[in-house]
Formats: sequence, structure tokens, C-alpha cells
Amino acid sequence: MKLSDGERVHFIDKKGRHYPLNLCRGKVFRFSGEAIAHDDIIGIEDGSIVIFSRGSKFVVVRPTLAEYILKMPRGAQVIYPKDIGMILMIADIYPGAKIVEAGIGSGALTMALLRVVGDKGEIISYEVREDFIKRAVENINVYHGRADNLLVRNKDIYEGIDEQGIDRVVLDLPEPWRVVTHAERSLRQGGIFLCYLPTTIQVSMVVEALKMSGTFIQIETIETLLRTWHVEENSVRPDHRMVAHTGFITVARKTGKTPEPFVIESRQGGII
Ligand SMILES: C[S@@+](CC[C@H](N)C(=O)[O-])C[C@H]1O[C@@H](n2cnc3c(N)ncnc32)[C@H](O)[C@@H]1O
Repeated sequence: MKLSDGERVHFIDKKGRHYPLNLCRGKVFRFSGEAIAHDDIIGIEDGSIVIFSRGSKFVVVRPTLAEYILKMPRGAQVIYPKDIGMILMIADIYPGAKIVEAGIGSGALTMALLRVVGDKGEIISYEVREDFIKRAVENINVYHGRADNLLVRNKDIYEGIDEQGIDRVVLDLPEPWRVVTHAERSLRQGGIFLCYLPTTIQVSMVVEALKMSGTFIQIETIETLLRTWHVEENSVRPDHRMVAHTGFITVARKTGKTPEPFVIESRQGGII
């Protein structure tokens, strides 16, 4: 597919480094003593090799969502692609789902949610900081285009959730236990609550709140460890360095109210 005026591309050098650019007819991209006209990129195929003014070669691509997230301008810290992938599966995000999210941050998770729920789905994103909303919406517009099914509320979700009959509540903020009661009212029966947290103390707080509620079952916490490999001729081994910790994902499913708490015994390797 050909690259067009106005879209985001990445140049990739021989070392695999990415250099992002928004294509704009008539402009020149200058970098490290080299230059290339945007007009020379507009209209060529995604994945083409281009030669800059002083002879350096780059591959020019339309970035994947994961590549875009890692290079887009950030307000708040983003959730990394390895965790976003897991969140989509663990929260069982599906086309047409109605989701309440908080906070929007830089918009990384929101973009992935929008892609899965599709045009028939809906995302309502609560965010307290106006500057983060502006940044996130700009990021989303560049990659995803204008999303008419995204409603951003400049509101504190600890004070409540306005929507009812929600399929999923997905949280990336510091005190999700303060949202458990609101989520309980807002989620439909069978709906899923998920939160993403960096520390064990926070995980403990939210799990206790979910247990106390009496309507959440299958409360489970996981983390994703992603190890890349060095593969070169006879040297095939894990890379020496890895990002060991990013965050914990805690998930729970809302049931109907029962007179007695419905406790499911913990299973080994339960979640997947
Ligand atoms: C780590 S960032 C979210 C990053 C986002 N998930 C992403 O992938 O780009 C946490 C966000 O939650 C927002 N936030 C914190 N407390 C909040 C609250 N009570 N209600 C709504 N948003 C809140 C912060 O302003 C911040 O933007």
C-alpha cells in the first residue's frame, strides 16, 4: 500500500533504529547531515528502501501500532505493547464492546482498544488532566484517525462512572480500588474489570477491594515477561538484557448478587 500525504512513517536504519516523520507535501526531512524530500516518499510503497542526500539507506514503513506507541510523543507513561497485547486478551475485548477506561494518559491503550472494538464499539475514557487529553487525542488522530466512538471525559473517575451497562472497565491509574464500587454499579452482569499496576502493594489493595465487594469472582493477577532472543548462526540464546518488570494485570468478572459469597477455589495456572 502506497504512503500518502499526512500520514506517519518510520525510517529504519541498518541498526534497526526508528526515526518517525509525518509526511507533508513540499517539506524536506533533515537528519544527521542528510536530507530527503517528503515528496520523494509520498506515493511510494510501504517497505521501500530510500536513499538520502549523502547516500545513507533507510527502509521507510508505515509503523505497526506497537512501533508507533514506542515513538509517539508522550504526556504520561504508556503501557508497553507486551502488556497491551495481554490486556486485550485477558479483558476479552471484542468488536462492539462498550468500555470505560481511565486514564487516557498518552492514548496508547486507547488506540489498541479502539482497534479491537471497531466502529460498533464505544470507548468512554476518563482523564483528570486536560494537557494529557490533548496529547492523547493528537496521538490517536495521527495513527487511528478521528474516532467518533471515543468519548473523553475530563473527570475524576474516583468520583463515579456515569455510564451503565458497560461491558468492560479497564484502568491504568494509581488507586483503582477507589473505582471498584463504581465499576460494580456500571458493569453489566458478566462484565469484566481489569487494572494495570506497577507495585504489589497496589495489587493487594485492589484485590482486597474486589473481594470485599461480594460481586466479583475469578480475581486473578498476572504479569508478562517478554524475553527476546539473539539468533545468529550457532549462537542461539536469550538476549543478555530484558525489561524484567513493567506492571501487574489484575482481572475480575462481575456476577449477580448472591446471599452467600460465591468463592471459586484458586486453580493452578487458572487464567489462560
Ligand atoms: C499511566 S497514565 C495512563 C497511560 C495510558 N494507559 C497509556 O497507555 O497511554 C495514568 C493516567 O491516569 C490519569 N489519572 C490519574 N488519576 C485519575 C483519576 N482519578 N481519574 C481519571 N484519570 C486519572 C493520569 O492523569 C494519567 O494520565
